[in-house]
Amino acid sequence: MLEELCVIVKKAGDIILSADMSKTRLEQKSSPGDFVTAFDIAVQEMLREELKRLLPEARFIGEESSREEIDTKGYCFIVDPIDGTANFAWDYRHSAVSIALAYNEKIIMGLVYNPYLDELFYAEAGKGAFLNGNRIWVSKRRLKDGLVCFGSSPYDKTKAEATFSLAGFLYKKALDVRRSGSAALDLCYIASGRCDLFYEMSLSPWDYAAASLIVTEADGVITNMRGERLQFREKSSVLAGGRNAYHDFWRVYGEFRYRRTGDD
Ligand code: IPD
Ligand code: CA
Ligand code: CA
Repeated sequence: MLEELCVIVKKAGDIILSADMSKTRLEQKSSPGDFVTAFDIAVQEMLREELKRLLPEARFIGEESSREEIDTKGYCFIVDPIDGTANFAWDYRHSAVSIALAYNEKIIMGLVYNPYLDELFYAEAGKGAFLNGNRIWVSKRRLKDGLVCFGSSPYDKTKAEATFSLAGFLYKKALDVRRSGSAALDLCYIASGRCDLFYEMSLSPWDYAAASLIVTEADGVITNMRGERLQFREKSSVLAGGRNAYHDFWRVYGEFRYRRTGDD
């Protein structure tokens, strides 16, 4: 199954690489900056067909068709055809295809493929996390020596003040901060030790489902920003890191909240 999924996710990547954006219109979805292109739809439809052929009993949840709360009982694919659509449309060349297979509310396989670098991150529950066939691990860095990547929850700008004030606070407590435009790749960068801590205050299950397994199989920690297990049913905040950076985050976050509101 994993081998077949690797072939399918790379086929999706080929569609992204061959896209000619000059012939495509950007359509706005929920808010300014939330786009869909013909290629998001084309990748999703190809994946829907191929995954149905591979595992007919699995349900299919794809970003470009799902609006309702997700039910992950039985087998269920959770798919983001292009994570980093704005990057894709601007030819920023940092986007990914994300496929998770869930069984009874747990992610059992996850694949995130960046076609621009031909980098395939994947994991199967209990079997470790890999990048192009090589085992990967989260970093052991402390937060003070680490890079923090964060997402700006661009489709919910009510989170902007909290997001950026936390980024400013962490910028002073860590080495530096990054904002890449693909949450799935941010999480894979945590899994491979390229970055040490990630947070975003609002993400959808298809943004983080596949990569969450890649993080935990790389010995990292991923929860929501209250420290609770991710549910994959609805929008959620996400916090991930190597164990040391994740642990350090809670002390710094306590200090941050105390300074902002006076409570701890
Ligand atoms: C978005 C990207 C972005 C994150 C947003 C996501 P999309 O996904 O992952 O990095 O900040 O919250 O919605 O819309 O490009 O698939
Ligand atoms: Ca996404
Ligand atoms: Ca998307």
